Amino acid sequence: MAEKYNSSKAIMNITIIVAIVLVVVIWPLSMLGKGGARAVSSDEADGRIQPVARVEMQKAVVAVASGKPRDGATVYGAVCMACHASGVANAPKAGDKAAWAPRIAQGAATLLKNATNGKGAMPPRGGAADLSDAELKAAVEHLVGLAK
Ligand code: HEC
Repeated sequence: MAEKYNSSKAIMNITIIVAIVLVVVIWPLSMLGKGGARAVSSDEADGRIQPVARVEMQKAVVAVASGKPRDGATVYGAVCMACHASGVANAPKAGDKAAWAPRIAQGAATLLKNATNGKGAMPPRGGAADLSDAELKAAVEHLVGLAK
């Protein structure tokens, strides 16, 4: 579990770095191009950056195209973390035992039902309608596991 969590964190960090590179390098270069003073052609720069971006794209495509159900940590990182990491809209924070204890006490079936149908500010399936039942269940179990 811990290893998977770390690798999805690493992928997120890489994605953030790529995004920063795109903003910091590509954007000013394309501005230069428009201004006329073309120090480096933005096509050239695109060519140099593309391989990095392409690797990231391929990873994302492989994850989806492999058709394998994503595990709980992966679904959590992709969907649930948006609210449950920081407690957006009073979502019970991941790993917050006090917040989760009364919810866990409702029983696994109720938790899963509420995650499936939505509850209060929690949208059905966390807003990811494409999640399979197995993926959602794994994500709920992952969240519960973090609070134990
Ligand atoms: C848009 C924000 C948001 C996202 C995304 C989100 N949640 Fe929630 N979640 C909430 C909020 C808010 C609550 C508290 C709802 C309440 O008790 O009124 C909640 C509560 C829950 C509960 C407890 C339900 C109960 O019976 O008390 C579970 C389980 C849960 N979420 C699982 C998930 C899973 C799994 C995902 C990802 C697939 C996810 N959530 C994504 C906002 C979110």
